[in-house]
Amino acid sequence: MSSFKQVTAPDASLRKSGESDLRIIRVRDLRYHYPDGTMALDGVDLDLRHGESVAVFGANGSGKTTFIRHLNGLLHGEGLVEVCGFEMGARASATTLAEVRSRVGLVFQNSDEQLFMPTVLEDVAFGPANLGLAPEDAAARARAALEQVGMLHAAAKAPYHLSAGEKRRAALAGVLAMQPEILVLDEPTTSLDPPGQRDLLRLLRNLPQAKILVTHDVDFAGALAARAVFFERGRIVADGNIREIIEHFHWSRVSE
Ligand SMILES: Nc1ncnc2c1ncn2[C@@H]1O[C@H](COP(=O)(O)OP(=O)(O)OP(=O)(O)O)[C@@H](O)[C@H]1O
Ligand SMILES: [Mg+2]
Repeated sequence: MSSFKQVTAPDASLRKSGESDLRIIRVRDLRYHYPDGTMALDGVDLDLRHGESVAVFGANGSGKTTFIRHLNGLLHGEGLVEVCGFEMGARASATTLAEVRSRVGLVFQNSDEQLFMPTVLEDVAFGPANLGLAPEDAAARARAALEQVGMLHAAAKAPYHLSAGEKRRAALAGVLAMQPEILVLDEPTTSLDPPGQRDLLRLLRNLPQAKILVTHDVDFAGALAARAVFFERGRIVADGNIREIIEHFHWSRVSE
Protein backbone atom coordinates (compact mmCIF):
# COMPACT_ATOMS: atom_id res chain seq x y z
CA MET A 1 0.00 0.00 0.00
CA SER A 2 1.22 3.46 -0.85
CA SER A 3 2.09 5.70 2.08
CA PHE A 4 1.85 8.95 0.20
CA LYS A 5 -1.39 10.67 -0.49
CA GLN A 6 -2.33 11.98 -3.90
CA VAL A 7 -3.64 15.41 -3.13
CA THR A 8 -6.69 16.56 -5.00
CA ALA A 9 -8.24 18.94 -2.46
CA PRO A 10 -7.18 20.76 0.72
CA ASP A 11 -6.75 18.10 3.39
CA ALA A 12 -9.47 18.70 5.97
CA SER A 13 -8.10 15.97 8.27
CA LEU A 14 -5.03 18.08 9.00
CA ARG A 15 -7.22 20.88 10.23
CA LYS A 16 -8.92 18.57 12.71
CA SER A 17 -5.74 16.98 14.03
CA GLY A 18 -5.35 19.41 16.93
CA GLU A 19 -1.61 19.59 16.25
CA SER A 20 -1.53 23.14 15.00
CA ASP A 21 0.90 24.12 17.77
CA LEU A 22 3.47 21.67 16.34
CA ARG A 23 3.23 23.22 12.90
CA ILE A 24 5.87 25.71 11.99
CA ILE A 25 4.44 26.27 8.50
CA ARG A 26 0.82 26.12 7.40
CA VAL A 27 -0.13 26.97 3.84
CA ARG A 28 -3.67 26.75 2.48
CA ASP A 29 -4.93 27.25 -1.05
CA LEU A 30 -2.05 29.54 -2.00
CA ARG A 31 -2.43 31.09 -5.43
CA TYR A 32 -0.09 33.43 -7.22
CA HIS A 33 0.17 34.85 -10.71
CA TYR A 34 3.07 36.96 -11.94
CA PRO A 35 2.34 40.43 -13.33
CA ASP A 36 2.54 39.06 -16.89
CA GLY A 37 -0.40 36.77 -16.09
CA THR A 38 1.52 33.48 -15.58
CA MET A 39 -0.41 31.40 -13.03
CA ALA A 40 2.59 30.06 -11.05
CA LEU A 41 0.75 28.74 -7.95
CA ASP A 42 -2.73 27.32 -8.31
CA GLY A 43 -3.85 26.23 -4.83
CA VAL A 44 -0.94 24.96 -2.72
CA ASP A 45 -1.46 23.27 0.67
CA LEU A 46 1.44 22.33 2.93
CA ASP A 47 2.13 21.69 6.61
CA LEU A 48 5.57 21.41 8.17
CA ARG A 49 6.30 20.49 11.76
CA HIS A 50 9.14 21.66 13.98
CA GLY A 51 12.39 19.93 13.04
CA GLU A 52 10.85 18.14 10.04
CA SER A 53 12.62 17.96 6.67
CA VAL A 54 10.76 17.83 3.38
CA ALA A 55 12.09 17.61 -0.16
CA VAL A 56 10.29 19.60 -2.84
CA PHE A 57 10.31 17.99 -6.28
CA GLY A 58 8.69 18.93 -9.56
CA ALA A 59 9.47 19.78 -13.17
CA ASN A 60 11.18 22.99 -14.25
CA GLY A 61 8.65 25.78 -14.05
CA SER A 62 6.21 23.87 -11.80
CA GLY A 63 6.25 26.59 -9.11
CA LYS A 64 8.79 25.46 -6.50
CA THR A 65 10.84 28.66 -6.33
CA THR A 66 7.71 30.80 -6.52
CA PHE A 67 6.29 28.84 -3.59
CA ILE A 68 9.24 29.21 -1.25
CA ARG A 69 9.45 32.94 -1.97
CA HIS A 70 6.11 33.21 -0.18
CA LEU A 71 7.55 31.75 3.03
CA ASN A 72 9.50 34.87 3.90
CA GLY A 73 7.27 37.42 2.25
CA LEU A 74 9.24 38.06 -0.93
CA LEU A 75 6.01 37.35 -2.80
CA HIS A 76 2.42 37.67 -1.65
CA GLY A 77 -0.35 35.58 -3.17
CA GLU A 78 -3.93 34.78 -2.26
CA GLY A 79 -4.63 32.19 0.43
CA LEU A 80 -3.12 31.47 3.84
CA VAL A 81 0.62 31.43 4.59
CA GLU A 82 1.37 31.04 8.29
CA VAL A 83 5.01 30.82 9.43
CA CYS A 84 5.96 30.32 13.08
CA GLY A 85 2.46 31.46 13.99
CA PHE A 86 2.71 34.68 11.96
CA GLU A 87 0.28 35.24 9.13
CA MET A 88 2.05 36.51 6.03
CA GLY A 89 0.44 38.20 3.07
CA ALA A 90 0.08 41.66 1.59
CA ARG A 91 -1.33 43.00 4.87
CA ALA A 92 1.50 41.67 7.09
CA SER A 93 3.13 44.48 9.05
CA ALA A 94 6.80 45.40 8.71
CA THR A 95 7.34 43.93 12.20
CA THR A 96 5.81 40.60 11.16
CA LEU A 97 7.93 40.50 8.03
CA ALA A 98 11.09 41.22 10.04
CA GLU A 99 10.16 38.52 12.60
CA VAL A 100 9.53 35.93 9.93
CA ARG A 101 12.65 36.83 7.94
CA SER A 102 14.77 36.29 11.04
CA ARG A 103 13.21 32.82 11.47
CA VAL A 104 13.19 31.62 7.86
CA GLY A 105 16.62 31.32 6.29
CA LEU A 106 16.25 31.20 2.51
CA VAL A 107 19.19 30.16 0.36
CA PHE A 108 18.37 31.42 -3.16
CA GLN A 109 18.60 29.31 -6.30
CA ASN A 110 20.89 32.00 -7.74
CA SER A 111 23.62 33.03 -5.26
CA ASP A 112 24.20 36.32 -7.10
CA GLU A 113 20.81 37.47 -5.79
CA GLN A 114 22.03 36.89 -2.24
CA LEU A 115 25.54 38.33 -2.05
CA PHE A 116 25.88 42.08 -2.16
CA MET A 117 28.38 43.39 0.42
CA PRO A 118 32.02 44.32 -0.45
CA THR A 119 33.52 41.32 1.36
CA VAL A 120 32.36 37.82 2.19
CA LEU A 121 32.69 38.45 5.94
CA GLU A 122 30.57 41.62 5.76
CA ASP A 123 28.04 39.80 3.67
CA VAL A 124 27.63 36.95 6.14
CA ALA A 125 27.64 39.37 9.11
CA PHE A 126 24.96 41.56 7.50
CA GLY A 127 22.03 39.41 8.68
CA PRO A 128 23.13 39.06 12.33
CA ALA A 129 23.95 42.80 12.45
CA ASN A 130 20.45 43.47 11.15
CA LEU A 131 19.07 41.39 14.01
CA GLY A 132 20.64 43.91 16.36
CA LEU A 133 23.87 42.13 17.31
CA ALA A 134 26.91 44.29 18.10
CA PRO A 135 29.34 44.43 15.14
CA GLU A 136 31.93 42.19 16.88
CA ASP A 137 29.25 39.60 17.78
CA ALA A 138 27.87 39.67 14.24
CA ALA A 139 31.40 39.18 12.88
CA ALA A 140 32.01 36.29 15.29
CA ARG A 141 28.82 34.59 14.13
CA ALA A 142 29.82 35.20 10.53
CA ARG A 143 33.24 33.64 11.07
CA ALA A 144 31.67 30.58 12.74
CA ALA A 145 29.23 30.17 9.84
CA LEU A 146 32.03 30.55 7.27
CA GLU A 147 33.99 27.90 9.14
CA GLN A 148 30.95 25.58 8.98
CA VAL A 149 30.87 25.82 5.19
CA GLY A 150 34.65 25.69 4.73
CA MET A 151 34.96 29.29 3.58
CA LEU A 152 36.72 31.09 6.40
CA HIS A 153 39.83 31.47 4.23
CA ALA A 154 37.81 33.63 1.81
CA ALA A 155 36.39 36.01 4.45
CA ALA A 156 38.17 39.06 3.03
CA LYS A 157 37.39 38.34 -0.64
CA ALA A 158 34.85 40.15 -2.76
CA PRO A 159 31.81 37.89 -3.22
CA TYR A 160 31.76 38.52 -6.98
CA HIS A 161 35.28 37.08 -7.24
CA LEU A 162 34.22 33.73 -5.79
CA SER A 163 33.68 30.64 -7.90
CA ALA A 164 30.10 29.42 -8.32
CA GLY A 165 30.45 26.75 -5.64
CA GLU A 166 32.16 29.17 -3.28
CA LYS A 167 29.28 31.62 -3.78
CA ARG A 168 26.82 28.89 -2.81
CA ARG A 169 28.78 28.19 0.36
CA ALA A 170 28.99 31.89 1.24
CA ALA A 171 25.25 32.32 0.65
CA LEU A 172 24.57 29.34 2.92
CA ALA A 173 26.87 30.81 5.59
CA GLY A 174 24.86 34.05 5.44
CA VAL A 175 21.73 32.10 6.27
CA LEU A 176 23.33 29.91 8.96
CA ALA A 177 24.68 33.00 10.70
CA MET A 178 21.08 34.12 11.29
CA GLN A 179 20.43 30.89 13.24
CA PRO A 180 16.95 30.61 11.71
CA GLU A 181 14.21 28.19 12.84
CA ILE A 182 13.55 27.02 9.30
CA LEU A 183 16.06 26.50 6.51
CA VAL A 184 14.73 26.82 2.99
CA LEU A 185 17.25 25.72 0.40
CA ASP A 186 16.63 26.17 -3.33
CA GLU A 187 18.91 23.77 -5.23
CA PRO A 188 21.70 23.91 -2.61
CA THR A 189 23.93 21.31 -4.31
CA THR A 190 24.18 23.19 -7.61
CA SER A 191 27.84 23.99 -8.38
CA LEU A 192 29.14 22.11 -5.34
CA ASP A 193 31.86 19.54 -6.01
CA PRO A 194 31.15 15.99 -4.69
CA PRO A 195 33.10 16.49 -1.42
CA GLY A 196 31.26 19.80 -1.03
CA GLN A 197 27.94 17.99 -1.47
CA ARG A 198 28.90 15.41 1.16
CA ASP A 199 30.00 18.17 3.55
CA LEU A 200 26.71 19.98 2.98
CA LEU A 201 24.75 16.81 3.66
CA ARG A 202 26.65 16.19 6.89
CA LEU A 203 26.18 19.81 7.94
CA LEU A 204 22.45 19.82 7.23
CA ARG A 205 21.92 16.49 8.97
CA ASN A 206 23.48 17.90 12.12
CA LEU A 207 21.33 21.03 12.13
CA PRO A 208 18.17 20.66 14.21
CA GLN A 209 16.10 23.11 12.18
CA ALA A 210 13.11 22.26 10.00
CA LYS A 211 14.25 22.12 6.38
CA ILE A 212 12.58 22.63 3.03
CA LEU A 213 14.85 21.36 0.32
CA VAL A 214 14.00 22.22 -3.28
CA THR A 215 16.08 20.02 -5.53
CA HIS A 216 16.31 17.85 -8.61
CA ASP A 217 19.04 15.85 -6.82
CA VAL A 218 17.00 12.91 -5.60
CA ASP A 219 19.96 11.13 -3.99
CA PHE A 220 20.85 14.16 -1.90
CA ALA A 221 17.20 14.69 -0.98
CA GLY A 222 16.75 11.03 -0.04
CA ALA A 223 19.76 11.20 2.25
CA LEU A 224 18.28 14.18 4.08
CA ALA A 225 14.50 13.85 4.09
CA ALA A 226 12.00 11.05 4.63
CA ARG A 227 9.16 13.11 3.18
CA ALA A 228 8.70 14.75 -0.19
CA VAL A 229 6.07 16.81 -1.94
CA PHE A 230 5.67 16.92 -5.71
CA PHE A 231 4.72 20.07 -7.63
CA GLU A 232 2.84 19.93 -10.90
CA ARG A 233 1.67 23.11 -12.66
CA GLY A 234 1.55 25.17 -9.49
CA ARG A 235 0.00 22.54 -7.20
CA ILE A 236 1.28 19.92 -4.78
CA VAL A 237 -0.12 16.73 -6.26
CA ALA A 238 1.54 14.26 -3.85
CA ASP A 239 2.86 14.43 -0.30
CA GLY A 240 4.45 11.52 1.56
CA ASN A 241 7.26 8.98 1.60
CA ILE A 242 10.16 10.26 -0.51
CA ARG A 243 11.13 6.86 -1.98
CA GLU A 244 7.59 6.17 -3.12
CA ILE A 245 7.25 9.61 -4.64
CA ILE A 246 10.52 9.24 -6.56
CA GLU A 247 9.33 5.90 -7.87
CA HIS A 248 5.79 6.99 -8.66
CA PHE A 249 6.89 10.02 -10.69
CA HIS A 250 9.91 8.21 -12.24
CA TRP A 251 12.04 10.94 -10.70
CA SER A 252 15.32 9.07 -10.27
CA ARG A 253 18.10 10.03 -12.66
CA VAL A 254 18.86 6.48 -13.72
CA SER A 255 16.04 4.55 -15.38
CA GLU A 256 15.50 0.98 -14.22
N1 LIG B 1 9.16 37.00 -12.77
C1 LIG B 1 8.38 36.17 -13.46
N2 LIG B 1 7.49 36.66 -14.36
C2 LIG B 1 6.69 35.83 -15.06
N3 LIG B 1 6.68 34.50 -14.93
C3 LIG B 1 7.56 33.97 -14.05
C4 LIG B 1 8.45 34.76 -13.28
N4 LIG B 1 9.21 33.96 -12.50
C5 LIG B 1 8.79 32.70 -12.77
N5 LIG B 1 7.79 32.70 -13.70
C6 LIG B 1 7.05 31.54 -14.22
O1 LIG B 1 6.40 30.91 -13.13
C7 LIG B 1 6.41 29.50 -13.28
C8 LIG B 1 7.03 28.87 -12.04
O2 LIG B 1 8.41 29.23 -11.98
P1 LIG B 1 9.37 28.78 -10.81
O3 LIG B 1 10.61 29.54 -10.92
O4 LIG B 1 8.59 28.85 -9.54
O5 LIG B 1 9.59 27.24 -11.19
P2 LIG B 1 10.50 26.12 -10.50
O6 LIG B 1 9.59 24.97 -10.17
O7 LIG B 1 11.28 26.72 -9.41
O8 LIG B 1 11.45 25.65 -11.71
P3 LIG B 1 13.01 25.17 -11.75
O9 LIG B 1 13.02 23.71 -11.44
O10 LIG B 1 13.40 25.43 -13.18
O11 LIG B 1 13.79 26.01 -10.78
C9 LIG B 1 7.16 29.23 -14.58
O12 LIG B 1 6.19 29.04 -15.59
C10 LIG B 1 7.95 30.50 -14.84
O13 LIG B 1 8.14 30.72 -16.21
MG1 LIG C 1 13.33 27.05 -9.15
